[in-house]
Amino acid sequence: MIGVFDSGVGGLTVLRAIRQRLPHEPTIYLGDTARVPYGTKSPEVVIRYSRNNASLLLRQGVQMLVVACNTASAHALEVLRAELPVPVFGVVEPGVEAAVRARPGGRIGVIGTAGTIASGAYQRAIEARTGTPPTVARACPLFVPLAEEGWTEGPIAEAIAERYLGDLRGKLDVLILGCTHYPLLRSVIQEVVGPNTLLVDSGASVAEVLAAEATEAKGATDRPPTHRLLVTDVPARFEEVVTRFLGERPERVEQVDLEPSLW
Ligand code: DGL
Repeated sequence: MIGVFDSGVGGLTVLRAIRQRLPHEPTIYLGDTARVPYGTKSPEVVIRYSRNNASLLLRQGVQMLVVACNTASAHALEVLRAELPVPVFGVVEPGVEAAVRARPGGRIGVIGTAGTIASGAYQRAIEARTGTPPTVARACPLFVPLAEEGWTEGPIAEAIAERYLGDLRGKLDVLILGCTHYPLLRSVIQEVVGPNTLLVDSGASVAEVLAAEATEAKGATDRPPTHRLLVTDVPARFEEVVTRFLGERPERVEQVDLEPSLW
């Protein structure tokens, strides 16, 4: 069973890619909807929240953990890898790997939350892989609420994308979408940066890495696998948004408490 966590609903785009790539593998998804967003929070807080999320998923018996949130991958991946008894996958390295493979020697840009960009995680991974820092690394914080609200096209999304990325038109060979929410704005982003810039979705890239690792489960059974969805806030709004992110209506969403009271 693969455990996936995100700060909220955005990681469902990663879950969707994993389910498509590994259709026989049971999954359990935890969206920390009570404490989203992570992208504006300090590394210390994001690490604490990530430990809480990982601990809950481990108690459910996951054999692999995917940190679908770019901000949590940027701040907490090394900590989780050092502390947990199961393999832990983040989205930063697979995204960089896919970008470099798609356009070797190309000009690479990366966009993400303020926390992800400030952490330097993508910049370091790109430099480690190519020998040079990215051409641009930029925070686009308003893309997250736009995607949550479902305003992924039209004049408001276009104006915000233009303001963030207009100066990059025609200047990049590849742009890494270093945030769970940005794939939902893919067409607006593509329009602004121009048709010659390849957009790489880090979430889809981690699904490829997992597919290579999870060989046993692939042919394991013909029975449809179970998929559980957990959230930390009340599920009502999640159920609405989940359909947009996952591309299907969820049967059931369970609410969990990561910080049980002492009385
Ligand atoms: N999941 C976050 C990420 O990929 C975006 C939302 C948030 O700020 O929590 O960085």
